[in-house]
Amino acid sequence: MIKMNLAIRDAKLQDTEFILSGIRDIFRIEKCVFSDRVYRERKKFTKNAIKNKQVRVVIEENKPIGFSWFRISDLTPFGLDYGKWSRKYCWISFVYVVKGYRNQGIGSLLYDDIMKICKKKGIKQIMLDVFTVNKKSTRFHEKIGFKPLLGIFTMRAR
Ligand SMILES: CC(C)(COP(=O)(O)OP(=O)(O)OC[C@H]1O[C@@H](n2cnc3c(N)ncnc32)[C@H](O)[C@@H]1OP(=O)(O)O)[C@@H](O)C(=O)NCCC(=O)NCCS
Repeated sequence: MIKMNLAIRDAKLQDTEFILSGIRDIFRIEKCVFSDRVYRERKKFTKNAIKNKQVRVVIEENKPIGFSWFRISDLTPFGLDYGKWSRKYCWISFVYVVKGYRNQGIGSLLYDDIMKICKKKGIKQIMLDVFTVNKKSTRFHEKIGFKPLLGIFTMRAR
């Protein structure tokens, strides 16, 4: 990693707009629509997640440059109404690093931090979904050790 003065901490409410700008960027990369309605909804979710200590922020010189957003759950992470999963796991909703700071190990650092949190909480499995269109995220997650579990297939209804 390039030498930087980095710290990771729980997100604060003042980080809300930074986190929302990251989510907007992820939606753009993954070709999802980030409308005003989505923005308002995400803002509510973000504030809640911050209050529940589900967002971690990487800071460089007092400035946020990345975040992770995770949640511990025991609900089956695919399909609708599938009930309980076999055990509790950590679900990653987002990992994000500001563009000029990518490819310097900060994404990996966010995962080191998540691993520590999981260890402390006795969580043995980490899961996330990756949009196939997001090639960089796919490559990054495979590189740090994730393996595909299932595919969600889609087509236009005719
Ligand atoms: C996916 C993402 C979080 C990864 O963060 P990152 O900080 O770039 O991650 P790292 O630097 O740890 O690893 C990225 C790559 O840089 C390489 N790398 C790490 N440290 C490096 C260094 N010091 N020098 C050169 N390369 C390095 C890694 O090997 C990795 O290679 P890869 O591109 O083949 O996977 C980041 O690209 C991102 O924010 N993307 C946009 C948002 C997004 O798509 N998020 C995922 C969906 S929620």
